[in-house]
Amino acid sequence: MELELKLKGALSRTAEALRVLENPRVITHLDADGVTSGSIVFKTLQLLGKNPKIVAIRQLDPGTLSSVPAEGTFVLVDLGSGQLPLLQHVKGPGVILDHHEPAGQVPPGITHFNAHEQGLDSSKEISSSGLAYLVSRELVDAPELIPLAITGAVGDVQAHNGLVGLNRKILEEGVKAGIVQARHGLPFFGRETKPVEVFLSYAADPYLPGLTGSLSACREFLEKLRIDPSFPYNSLPSSDVSRLVTALHEHAIQTGLEPWKMKRLVSEFYIFPRETERTEVRDATEFATLLNACGRNEDWRTAIDICLGDRGDAYARAKTLLAQHRENLKRGLSELVEKGAKPVGKHVQLFFSPLTKATIIGVVIGMAIGGRLVDHDRVILGAAEQDEKTLKISARGTADLVRTGLNLSSAVREAAATVGGVGGGHNIAAGATVPKGRLDEFAERLDEAIGKQMRY
Ligand code: C5P
Ligand code: C5P
Repeated sequence: MELELKLKGALSRTAEALRVLENPRVITHLDADGVTSGSIVFKTLQLLGKNPKIVAIRQLDPGTLSSVPAEGTFVLVDLGSGQLPLLQHVKGPGVILDHHEPAGQVPPGITHFNAHEQGLDSSKEISSSGLAYLVSRELVDAPELIPLAITGAVGDVQAHNGLVGLNRKILEEGVKAGIVQARHGLPFFGRETKPVEVFLSYAADPYLPGLTGSLSACREFLEKLRIDPSFPYNSLPSSDVSRLVTALHEHAIQTGLEPWKMKRLVSEFYIFPRETERTEVRDATEFATLLNACGRNEDWRTAIDICLGDRGDAYARAKTLLAQHRENLKRGLSELVEKGAKPVGKHVQLFFSPLTKATIIGVVIGMAIGGRLVDHDRVILGAAEQDEKTLKISARGTADLVRTGLNLSSAVREAAATVGGVGGGHNIAAGATVPKGRLDEFAERLDEAIGKQMRY
C-alpha cells in the first residue's frame, strides 16, 4: 500500500508505542466503529503475545473517566482526542488512536495518532477502524482484520458513494486477499438477510412511490417480474437482479423521480465471502447495524465477541438485540415523523425525545435526515435524557451543508461550552452532553455558531 511519508512516520511511531506496552487496557467507543477498531487493536496486541483487556464506553467524559487507569498502560480507541484536557492526570504510557477532531494538549506519556493531524478527512477518508488496521499491519500480518476495518467505516457512514481515500486502499488490499468483495447494486438495507420484498419496502433514498413502506405492493411488483419475493437480494440469480434493476428504473421514471436522484438507485456495497450466506456478518452495512444494536444497547461485550470471531452464542444474543434495536429505532422515527422537528433560528431543527435512549438518538436523527424525513437544509439536533441531570445531544448535517461551510464539531463544542456542557465530533456529525433545562439555549447558540460558518 502506497502511503505518504508523514503518515508512514506516524504509523511506525504508534506501532512502536503499542509494541512496548505491557498488558494494556483498551478503552473504546461503543458504536460500530468503536467496537471494530477496539477489537482490531485488542487482537493485534494478543497476536504480539500481550494480555490486553478491553472495555467500551459511551463517551469519554467526567462520568466515565475512571475507566482510564491513572497509573497503568492503556490504549484509547475512537475517543480521547476531543477530550485531551480531561487526561492531564494520567501517567501512561498510553496511546490514543482516534479520528475525532482534537481539542487541547497531548499530555506527556501519551502517543497521539489522529486522522486530523495527518490531514485526513475523518468523516470520509478514514474512520478509527481504518486507522487501527493501518497500525495493526505495521505490527502483524493479519488481513483477516480487514472486514472489521471496512465495517467500522461503513458504520460511520463513510461509504455514501463508495469508499474513498485510505478506506479505499484498505478495501483494495482486502479484495486482493479475497477477503472482501465490492459490488454494485440497489442501495437499500438488508440485502444479505431480508427477503427481497422487505428489502425493497425499506427504500428510503431514493424514496419509491407506491413501493416504499408497502410489503404487499413490493411482493406484487416482484411476482410480476417472476422473482421469488422471499429470497434475499444477494442470493438472487444475476438475471433476476438485472430484471429488477431495469424495472425499478422504469418505475422511477414513471413516478417522476428526478433524474439526479436516479443515480442513487445504484451504490457500491461490501461482502465478506468467508462468512456464511444470509447472516448479517457477511454484509458490511448489516454487520455494522448488528454491532450498533449490541453496543448502543449496553451489550458491548457481545459486539466485541462477534468482532473477535464468535458466531455462536454471541451471534445468537446479538440477533435478539437487533430485533429490539429495530423496534427502538422505529419508535423514535415514528415519534419524530408525528411530532416533527422544531425549527430554531435559521439553521437548526430540534427533536427532543424523552422516550428515546441516549445511545440511539444519533441513529434516529441520522436516519431521518438521510432518508429525507426532515428538512434537509437545516442541521438536525436530537436530544434524549442521559441521566437525571444531563441531556445527550446528537447533531447531524448533510454533505451539502458541509460544502457551504458547516463544521458541526466546532459549532457543537462552542455551543455546549456556553451552557456548561461538552461536545465535539466531525464536520457532518457531532454530539454533546448538556445540563437539563438548557436545551433551547444550546440550540440557539448552535444556530448562531453555524450562522458564522455558512458561506452564503
Ligand atoms: O463517534 P463517531 O465518529 O463514531 O460517530 C460517527 C457518527 O457520525 C455515526 O454514527 C454516523 O451517524 C455519523 N456520520 C454521518 N455521516 C458521515 C459520517 C458520520 O452521519 N458522513
Ligand atoms: O453520539 P453521536 O453518535 O451523536 O456522536 C456523534 C459524534 O460526536 C461522534 O463522533 C461522537 O464521538 C462525537 N461526540 C463528542 N463528544 C460528545 C458526544 C459525541 O465528541 N460529548
